[in-house]
Amino acid sequence: MEKNEITVSIDRQHETLAIDGGRPVRTEPLPLEFPGVHHMGQQETEAALRVLRSRSLFRFYGLDLQEEVSSFESEFARWLGVSHAVAVTSGTGALSVALSAIGVGPGQEVIIPAYMWVSVAAAVVNRGAIPVLVDINETFCLDPNAVERCITPRTAGIILVHMSGVPGDVKAVQRIANQHKVFLLEDCAQCNGGSVDGQKVGTFGDIATFSFQMNKNMTSGEGGCIVTNNLRLYRRAIACHDLGYVRDEEGRLAFSDPAYCLWGEGYRLDELRAALLRMQLKKLPAIIEAMRRSKYRIRRALEMLPGVRLRRIVDPQGDTGCFLITIYRDRQTAERVNLALRAEGIVTYPQGVSNVLMTEWGLHLYYNIPSLVQKTSLDGRGFPWKLAENAGLEREYAKGICPVADSLFERSIILAIPSCLTEHDESDIVQAFEKVLRAYSL
Ligand SMILES: Cc1ncc(COP(=O)(O)O)c(C=O)c1O
Repeated sequence: MEKNEITVSIDRQHETLAIDGGRPVRTEPLPLEFPGVHHMGQQETEAALRVLRSRSLFRFYGLDLQEEVSSFESEFARWLGVSHAVAVTSGTGALSVALSAIGVGPGQEVIIPAYMWVSVAAAVVNRGAIPVLVDINETFCLDPNAVERCITPRTAGIILVHMSGVPGDVKAVQRIANQHKVFLLEDCAQCNGGSVDGQKVGTFGDIATFSFQMNKNMTSGEGGCIVTNNLRLYRRAIACHDLGYVRDEEGRLAFSDPAYCLWGEGYRLDELRAALLRMQLKKLPAIIEAMRRSKYRIRRALEMLPGVRLRRIVDPQGDTGCFLITIYRDRQTAERVNLALRAEGIVTYPQGVSNVLMTEWGLHLYYNIPSLVQKTSLDGRGFPWKLAENAGLEREYAKGICPVADSLFERSIILAIPSCLTEHDESDIVQAFEKVLRAYSL
């Protein structure tokens, strides 16, 4: 047995479940999620003060410009191993800019996974294109076989979302994208720092997006980034994230190249948040290491228990560790286990969400997104669904479209793994699972 492996207390196994009036495994809530926040400190404070003292908060020029945004872009690109990065104000903005840079528009279909975040569908719809839902497998990311089956002559590209901290089967999806000559966009918002066979997510496709919102592996409260190795996509992203044009050395708008006289979307990042991100990037390996260590200590203990299955991980070395998903034989079992675990104290503070049935995981589930299911139109005239260019591309989005995802969602529980979990917290989690699963003879 490895050093520090979690062993289960024999006494606990025979205790009455807390849900039946017994003593709970723990009474103090588990720490909140927010991986980057737990590692924030003096360095972030000093970085923010440096920018405030310079009174130069705009990225392109100022009284005493610190060049935090451009430095962050270079550092982030180098860390990932890509040529170019464009920092933006959100992951949602990053998705919009990436699709604009590619040139996605009406008449095209874009493949999106059944398990994602509302922003993915929104970015496609806002460009006037039609999202095509594709099922997941036990990786909880796109099923490559299902992707292959859903490619049509109208498919422009595939958005692979690396969900809940873990990379999807990106190599298989990349092969399909190459074979069919469609773009691959990796949404790495939930998996910053993840990798497959030593290669970081965000470097496999044509373009990739990140979010630095507060729940993410590193954070500036709000923020995002687009990365690519393609110079043309980079320059188009630079133009689109700003006012529609690239800039010269002095940060002035440049109009000389018609290829980069486009339309802007207004997602420029400011110096203050970039300064925070530079500090968080330095800490990201330690943040991920902490979560991965906790998650795999828990996973190794749970692997010994019958009655529970664990999410399939393509490459455990590349897992960022921020969520643990357990799968049960049917919905009733998952519900019972979840309620009993919560009664054992496997809960977090009210401002966080953890240890919930995946059906309660909000706008991550395609059928929980009302605007998608109802095909809402911003203009009230049916955009983009009823555009002439989209004739023949009618799709449905209600529950039932992705049966594997539907079944996994109702049989699975998702638990956040905070970056400050102690060994004591980890042992409590394992003991609670053990106690509940044994009591229910699973
Ligand atoms: C997979 C995914 N994509 C995109 C986003 C959007 O990021 P943001 O909240 O920064 O707009 C999120 C945020 O939660 C996400 O989880």
